[in-house]
Amino acid sequence: MAYSLPLWVKYKISGGVALYPRVPALGAEAIVDLIVERTLYFDRVIERVVEQVDQLVVMGAGYDMGAYGKLQGKNLSFFELDQPSVQTHKLATLESSGIASEHVTFVSVDFTNENAMGRLIESGFDTSKKTLFLWEGVTLYLSEADVRKTMRGICNTATAGSVLLADIYAQRFIEIAGKTSAKKTLDATDEGLDFGLNFSTKHEESLSVFVESESMPVGECFFLGEKSDKGPFVVVVEAIID
Ligand SMILES: C[S@@+](CC[C@H](N)C(=O)[O-])C[C@H]1O[C@@H](n2cnc3c(N)ncnc32)[C@H](O)[C@@H]1O
Repeated sequence: MAYSLPLWVKYKISGGVALYPRVPALGAEAIVDLIVERTLYFDRVIERVVEQVDQLVVMGAGYDMGAYGKLQGKNLSFFELDQPSVQTHKLATLESSGIASEHVTFVSVDFTNENAMGRLIESGFDTSKKTLFLWEGVTLYLSEADVRKTMRGICNTATAGSVLLADIYAQRFIEIAGKTSAKKTLDATDEGLDFGLNFSTKHEESLSVFVESESMPVGECFFLGEKSDKGPFVVVVEAIID
């Protein structure tokens, strides 16, 4: 019963069917496990890296609450980057929920049309401090050129020992999500999916070639769905600024 309470609450609020989230072994995931699993591996890397950094930048933060939970006690400077419309709504929601956000610097940025690092520096980001950049659930909405531009900006500006933690999707996933019922949701919010890597063969090589081409060595990485004959559908990857 204890485990079913959050799902019962979800059902009461949304009216949607209360499914139990699964946590399969690494590599055995199906696409339905994506959200739970990717966050689990993000959290695993965050737990290790957060002890070595002074700043946390949540890029494309959306409604991520990482800056308001136990990380708040870590004596970090927090920055959240997102499009203005999302940030305005998030700030209003935090306020109406009584959740303090004064410790977070909100920086409005469009990764496509603006220089994210330039906007961060204008907002008080300290380039001499080691930083953890989180980029969860965002690269797939951008073009390869914009993903590369943002990675290059981080690599050229952040101090050595900083880390970029991101999820990068397989082209297969982008194609599936562009066709299935997920497309209806994306159409409703006027969003489209774009960037993915070819993970159908030699996925580890595809990933390292891509990340290293932006001058960052690959640290820890987790390929979800790796046991499928079609290859993994996403990787959570730690890219190191050295
Ligand atoms: C799926 S949400 C992920 C939110 C959060 N990182 C999480 O994991 O819960 C994608 C986020 O990326 C942001 N985003 C998408 N394209 C963007 C762009 N071109 N510039 C800035 N933010 C963007 C969206 O506004 C949204 O908050």
